[in-house]
Amino acid sequence: MPTILPGREIARQPARTAVMKGLILSGGAGTRLRPITHTSAKQLVPVANKPILFYGIEDMAEAGITEIGIIVGSTAAEIEAAVGDGSRFGVHVSYLPQDEPLGLAHCVLIARDFLGDDDFVMYLGDNMLEQGLGGFIARWESQHTAALQPALGDAPDGPTGAPAAQILLTPVPDPQRFGVAELDDEGNVVALVEKPEDPPSDLALVGVYLFSKLIHQAVAAIAPSARGELEITDAIQWLIDSGAPVHHDLLDGWWLDTGKKDPLLESNRRVLESLEARVDGEVDADSKVDGRVVIEAGARLVNSEVRGPAIIGAGSVITSSYIGPFTAVAANCEVTDSEIDQSVIMEGARIRAVPRLTDSLMGRDSEVTRGARRSQATRVTLGDHSTVELA
Ligand code: TTP
Repeated sequence: MPTILPGREIARQPARTAVMKGLILSGGAGTRLRPITHTSAKQLVPVANKPILFYGIEDMAEAGITEIGIIVGSTAAEIEAAVGDGSRFGVHVSYLPQDEPLGLAHCVLIARDFLGDDDFVMYLGDNMLEQGLGGFIARWESQHTAALQPALGDAPDGPTGAPAAQILLTPVPDPQRFGVAELDDEGNVVALVEKPEDPPSDLALVGVYLFSKLIHQAVAAIAPSARGELEITDAIQWLIDSGAPVHHDLLDGWWLDTGKKDPLLESNRRVLESLEARVDGEVDADSKVDGRVVIEAGARLVNSEVRGPAIIGAGSVITSSYIGPFTAVAANCEVTDSEIDQSVIMEGARIRAVPRLTDSLMGRDSEVTRGARRSQATRVTLGDHSTVELA
């Protein structure tokens, strides 16, 4: 049983309301996915032609959460246009503006009115999980139910033990790059450290958390870290130091923080692998579709081959080209006389006469072409923070 620090006494775990809400963090700067994120939200970058953010909303809806607050920053308009009022997901969405990305715990602070006294799942809008949220929430519920059953020897004012927070952990080979948890013999979380030089375990924090209303005391009590952000790890550590139980669950399946190109391409690969093949678009007699391939209605293949897992979005035209495994071509793209594989091609992009494009992320309405004259020269018009790797 952790000791309660002086001046840090918090209310005994209060009576809970029946509702569980969702809080999705979709503000932030997105510096690591530049230049894509100069003009659009990283949470809307598509994985298998669906914005990353939608996977989190769908997971919440599937777990029975119907009230979702989305933290939005400078890309608010775009996120609101994409998600709307949430009715297409069967949920109700409230938008919670954050003027500056002042940290994950700052998001909880500004969501206070929306959250009220309800328990809530907090989900980083650029993360993807293979597992749903059902098991994670069921574990929380069962621990609250168990804590309500008085055990022999409990103090007259009732048992403690119901978690104030539950975090999701997974073993990683490089814990130095993550928030890392230290557990006691009973599996209680006793300490959290951000990017430790000397990690106490190999258990990294995954971007999904469950909190009771006690977290509001914690986020109000902590000070900004050296990088000027209110850190959620500091808020959880505050709960632990105050004697509030913090439990954990181990991740089942894969998890990816998609905020960079390579993990994004990997998420794309993983999700494409699980798609059901379906050809709703047009495939002409000279074209071939092989393996787990989705051709959306309104897409056209002309004298081309698509080898799955791959998806071609509505309105895209693929002519005299080869689309190889692990490629997602979004809506209204043009691919002509080219070969692409292992890539995410966003809406409206054009690729012409490119012998082989691989491991690439192309933004909306971007273009890669090859001139008719064979020369050693490469001509580019690149936005700020663009990257080109020449073979
Ligand atoms: P991070 O990846 O921690 O931060 P970031 O979005 O600023 O990214 P980068 O390091 O590339 O600049 O954010 C995780 C998620 O939380 C992401 O969806 C953005 C969101 N977020 C907020 O909504 N508000 C914040 O204050 C912060 C720090 C993040």
